[in-house]
Amino acid sequence: MRIAVLSGGRSSEHEISVTSGASVADGLRAAGHDVVEVRIERDGRWIADGAELEARPAAGLLGCDIAFPALHGPGGEDGSVQGMLEVLDIPYVGSGVEASAVCIDKLVFKDLLAAHGIPQVEYCRAGEEGWRERAASLGSPLWVKPARLGSSVGITPVADPDGLDAAIESARRHDPRVIIEAPAPGKEVECSVLGNFELTVSVPGEIAIRADTDWYDHEAKYAEGGMELIVPAGISAAASDRLRELAARVFELCGCSGLARCDFFVDGEMVLVNELNTIPGFTETSVYGKLLEAGGLGYPDLCDRLVELAIERHREARSYEF
Ligand SMILES: Nc1ncnc2c1ncn2[C@@H]1O[C@H](COP(=O)(O)OP(=O)(O)O)[C@@H](O)[C@H]1O
Ligand SMILES: [Mg+2]
Repeated sequence: MRIAVLSGGRSSEHEISVTSGASVADGLRAAGHDVVEVRIERDGRWIADGAELEARPAAGLLGCDIAFPALHGPGGEDGSVQGMLEVLDIPYVGSGVEASAVCIDKLVFKDLLAAHGIPQVEYCRAGEEGWRERAASLGSPLWVKPARLGSSVGITPVADPDGLDAAIESARRHDPRVIIEAPAPGKEVECSVLGNFELTVSVPGEIAIRADTDWYDHEAKYAEGGMELIVPAGISAAASDRLRELAARVFELCGCSGLARCDFFVDGEMVLVNELNTIPGFTETSVYGKLLEAGGLGYPDLCDRLVELAIERHREARSYEF
């Protein structure tokens, strides 16, 4: 098949996406596909083979059979590019518009989980009615974050209440919507979900950060040796079962398709959902692929499977009357 791999994008995750995109292109070629690399520049232009893309609704994309968005964060993982691909009428890898938009917004995502009784930390939105009292009741440190970003950008743990307003201001530089969360205890554990209807849920992996880092910040995520993935995670069998069950449940609840990495905090037997990333870091050494590889699915086969899932989902979506 001929596959358009989209990478770059306008968000602060541009570079990370370029790395993911290069890996995906290699993986797809290794699986026997033709790849057209499409780079979304920081200014938003789409470039393929040195030329700027001209898009026409319902005319597809560069004669490709499917698109593989390897884009992270706003303007790539948030439903906007997915909307464009819908309008172009080309099957694409991963979640659709609605699931992407729900999962990128930590407030919307948590509200949805709360409505379904899924365990997570307590939280509030900066500026909502009674938020100061609510925030004061959440414990310490408070975790202040832009609602719609990623890669730990704009996040501050606030131990001193006097620092709360500055942390909110700093998060607001990225997003007018700011979430304040209670501190989660325990280990950070992640697991990969693959599928549309029948889901494969990987073994959970534990994120061990370097001793001189307090939390899984931007540096720990991307600096060489900043983190180590421990597979399987050092948690009980019961916690592992619970976590995998929750990952599948949250994936379905949000209406995801194709792939997602679901992130948790685990303290003893307590398992709290942190977030679900619809386009997680996707290089050959990223957590998402590593966890599936532990179950026997190599990277090129994973890329190939995602292509099949994209086609299956597109076909299914077109089977309804509208
Ligand atoms: N409520 C919390 N309690 C403890 N640590 C947190 C909490 N929220 C975030 N963190 C830390 O910050 C990191 C990034 O937060 P996260 O919500 O996953 O944002 P991002 O979308 O940027 O990955 C987490 O991996 C964890 O290390
Ligand atoms: Mg995270």
